[in-house]
Amino acid sequence: MTSIPATGRSRTELTAELAARKGGDRDWRHGKLAVYFYWLDEELERVQQEAYLAYWTENNLGQRAYPSLKSLEDDVIAMSLGLLGGGPKAGGTFTSGGSESIFLAMMAARNRAHARRGTPRGNIVLPDSAHLTFDRAAEALGLEVRRVPVGPDFRADAVAMAARMDGDTVALVGSAPNYPFGTFDPIAELAALAAERGAWMHVDACVGGFLAPYVRRLGHDIPRFELDVPGVTSMSADIHKHGMAPKGASLLLVADAADREWHKFESRAWQRGPYAAYTTQGTRPGGAVAAAWASMNHLGDEGYLRCARLIMEAKAIITAGIEAIPGLEVLRPNDLGILVWRTTDPALDIGKVAAAMDAEGWLVGRQQQPDGVHLHLNPIHRHYAEDYVAAVSRAVTAVRGGAAARMGANERTY
Ligand SMILES: Cc1ncc(COP(=O)(O)O)c(C=O)c1O
Repeated sequence: MTSIPATGRSRTELTAELAARKGGDRDWRHGKLAVYFYWLDEELERVQQEAYLAYWTENNLGQRAYPSLKSLEDDVIAMSLGLLGGGPKAGGTFTSGGSESIFLAMMAARNRAHARRGTPRGNIVLPDSAHLTFDRAAEALGLEVRRVPVGPDFRADAVAMAARMDGDTVALVGSAPNYPFGTFDPIAELAALAAERGAWMHVDACVGGFLAPYVRRLGHDIPRFELDVPGVTSMSADIHKHGMAPKGASLLLVADAADREWHKFESRAWQRGPYAAYTTQGTRPGGAVAAAWASMNHLGDEGYLRCARLIMEAKAIITAGIEAIPGLEVLRPNDLGILVWRTTDPALDIGKVAAAMDAEGWLVGRQQQPDGVHLHLNPIHRHYAEDYVAAVSRAVTAVRGGAAARMGANERTY
């Protein structure tokens, strides 16, 4: 068993051991995975590292002590509201990630319904493509989850969702886009339904928040999903995804800042005076705020457009390349940089193709329902799109030639 060493080890020794331990990790810098990371170039990497280091130990709980962190956080929220349809009443909260933003939204929906309608055990209605972190939040908050199958176009079925709502429905959810298929749900339709029934409408734009507006500017057909869509109450948007910031940075944005009060915790029930927080965290890393602020200011609209262009080019190359291989197809529709490909030839087992790619060092994300391979592209994949297609082609040849290893759909899907 490992225990704390009796005497401390040197900085050099520790740095060397960390580098050695990292040696066995997957090679994300060369596009060998399409999940877990976002990277543009070395300049942005340095901007992030320097900003993070400038606040590496400052605690963002203590904004009384560190007013600069409050000003950086306010800037990040204001820039994001400007991008995502926030009007003069809108507001937001800086969180640690998509899961925390979603937890706070569901908590706010529950608390509001409880205060206004006395709802004893509320439920949330969501398409079955919505992220499982909603289920985790619901479990902790005592909410029932009602997942509704998506339509044949992999988008939420608003009519079927309406049928699952009742007087105890505290929230309706739509994704912009969802993680499994990369499709947008019909947010305007869902938000109108939520407004009509008095439910909280949450838009999960964890993936799309900082990408979709730019993909739209490039001319792609992206439906409105922003805070100014009538009926939208809140939105989760991850700066640590396509906002291109390091981990630990997401936002819960609200169309009306007064709704932040529903996810506020405040108490005086101890000896040390009042304690209040809008997040689930107490101590919060100042570095995450500084690095998010620096990433947004470094990239600017121009940089985000560049990211969007690289991603959509990578998707076009990968889609065309995969569909040129007999027996493979890409699922459609897919709206941003998430795509799923699968086999159309019963003699070609996707599990075996996945295993052959894994053997070459590609981290394969297996999709279930339908059985396939999932990619979530970021700008770096533009440089490796051709390599990826060539690897798929080699894997298919290996499987057609009799390669037997198989990766099941229940293995390593996330
Ligand atoms: C659509 C969507 N929502 C929410 C989340 C959860 O975000 P996080 O992993 O930052 O908690 C993810 C993560 O991939 C996601 O894709």
